[in-house]
Amino acid sequence: MRTLNDAFLLNNGMKIPQLGFGCFQIEDNEIDQVIRWAADAGYRYYDAATRYENEKGVGRALRNCGVPREEIFLISKIWPSCYDEPEKAIEYSLRELNLEYIDSYFLHWPSSSEDRRYKAWETLLKYQERGLIKSVGVSNFTEEQLDKLIAKFGVTPVLNQVEIHPWYPQHELKKYCDEKNIKVIAWGPLFRGFLKEVPLMAELGEKYGKSAAQLTLRWHLQQDNIIIPKSNIKEQIEENTRIYDFNITDEDMKRIDAIESGRHFGSDPNTNDGENFTIQYNC
Ligand SMILES: NC(=O)c1ccc[n+]([C@@H]2O[C@H](COP(=O)([O-])OP(=O)(O)OC[C@H]3O[C@@H](n4cnc5c(N)ncnc54)[C@H](OP(=O)(O)O)[C@@H]3O)[C@@H](O)[C@H]2O)c1
Repeated sequence: MRTLNDAFLLNNGMKIPQLGFGCFQIEDNEIDQVIRWAADAGYRYYDAATRYENEKGVGRALRNCGVPREEIFLISKIWPSCYDEPEKAIEYSLRELNLEYIDSYFLHWPSSSEDRRYKAWETLLKYQERGLIKSVGVSNFTEEQLDKLIAKFGVTPVLNQVEIHPWYPQHELKKYCDEKNIKVIAWGPLFRGFLKEVPLMAELGEKYGKSAAQLTLRWHLQQDNIIIPKSNIKEQIEENTRIYDFNITDEDMKRIDAIESGRHFGSDPNTNDGENFTIQYNC
């Protein structure tokens, strides 16, 4: 990967940029400005979700950011508490985003109920047939959950978005996804903001003339993770794109790999039913 515009080929022939922009925890009154900065800095993949409660703002900002729709790769996600009424939830996303179609739409978490999971997935597939969703993916799925989904529907998700950073690299899950031709997106790529607790990243960053964040993002690039760092700050949004002009040596990659600790922030994929959030449908 040499430039910010490089993209990965998905198993359905679509392409996704390796560097995307995470839209979680950006308020409606700041999203227009933040996405304009991101678009100007060159980000072309935007990572949204109904759970982030800002799809309307993300859609508005993307319509007005000066980049043609066809150059943007937009992901959004249905939240598990909506799996009983998936049509309503997908219609909600489409209406709020108001960008004609969604490039890839995900099950945000597997849900503890296979029935509800499969009902939602089946509905995603129907919307894909109608062209309103261009591809279907998942998030926070384990190997076993992927195996079962693929066996039941004969459809392989194009992407699996899971928590990955040097504390929690999820090597086995990544290997499994590689074998199935499912690309992996790393959420929380910058330790979810806990970078300061990882002095090695700053130490190595200094060696390469880079920040701790840039060093961390480069570690991801060198193992083919798709990354979606989030920031509200213009300088950091730009800084996070300047990761293509250096290479971390094998030896230093190993030093980073050695800080794997299992520490992570996400819920258990077998039990998270997302009860803490429901949509207030306006229809
Ligand atoms: N599928 C899922 O279940 C799931 C779960 C969580 C997140 N996500 C997705 O993944 C995206 C990224 O994950 P995340 O937002 O949780 O964590 P993250 O990107 O790892 O970390 C974000 C934090 O890092 C800080 N930061 C960003 N750039 C920096 C820099 N150059 N130097 C120092 N600090 C920097 C940000 O601060 P400032 O904002 O103050 O700049 C923010 O506090 C989300 O936005 C969302 O799209 C998905």
